[in-house]
Amino acid sequence: MEKTENRPLIVVVGSSNTDMVIKVDHLPRPGETIIGHDFMTNQGGKGANQAVAACRMGGRVAFVARVGDDSFGRQAIDMMRNEGIDTTFVLPTKQAATGIALIPVDSKGENSIIVASGANALLSEDDIEAARTLIAQADIVMMQLETPIPTLVRVARIASEAGARVVLNPAPFPPEPLPEELLKCLTLITPNETEAAMMSGIEVTDDASALQAIRNIQAKGVQNVIVTAGSKGAFTTEGDRLVCIPSERVQAVDTTAAGDTFCGALCVGLSEGLTLGDAIRFANHAAAISVTRMGAWQSIPHREELT
Ligand code: RIB
Repeated sequence: MEKTENRPLIVVVGSSNTDMVIKVDHLPRPGETIIGHDFMTNQGGKGANQAVAACRMGGRVAFVARVGDDSFGRQAIDMMRNEGIDTTFVLPTKQAATGIALIPVDSKGENSIIVASGANALLSEDDIEAARTLIAQADIVMMQLETPIPTLVRVARIASEAGARVVLNPAPFPPEPLPEELLKCLTLITPNETEAAMMSGIEVTDDASALQAIRNIQAKGVQNVIVTAGSKGAFTTEGDRLVCIPSERVQAVDTTAAGDTFCGALCVGLSEGLTLGDAIRFANHAAAISVTRMGAWQSIPHREELT
């Protein structure tokens, strides 16, 4: 990918999954078997979703990932190329199958997700070294936690040393704390309320607890924090002040990839020079559209749909 192109380069490092989705009336309780409705096989994975979102919002995007050397992996690469994403470092492996996510979606649009990581778990520090030149050219590097954490530490180190802004969407949050070295490289982290509580030790229930949670996370070395709180909106800080940017009210059909759409759009907004607050408003708008549609990639809007 040519550095000479004017648009800022966004490099997404992360997961690519095939989502197996079943519509259900309610999410099954432990031990319960339920009969579902429609079944869909969709493109997904938090990394791929964020790359697609950033691309559809008008960003110049490269994706770094591992997929299986199988039909799902080949299909994912073809579809990413069709989107306009640079897939030079979406590397097929014969050692594992493409990642799979099992996703029941209930009548209110809520879901639960189980991921079999497969090839995502093989994204290695050597793979990142191979993509070093690309990562070092980025204006923004965005990551999530569906790939090995030592690999992400390597990404963060290369990106921050090269002067890129480094954004982490800390999902799914691991049982053990995130490494200090990773946190210190981050320009921005985007936990949801649950992830913010796990990182900060503070339950986010109101403005005061949101501010305290953000301060605790910043004390670990992260420069900026956005706590996403679904229909309540997103919390961040401007100087000493807590700012809450409300989300748009919509009828939810499926919340899958709403957070990923938010992150992809946020990075494009920031890459275009928006303030954090305005980038959140832009990202909220994109995420609100995505929850009105089923699926991951197919729910993500294009820039021209944002009025
Ligand atoms: O964030 C939604 C994504 O989480 C799904 O597409 C699924 O693949 C899992 O990675």
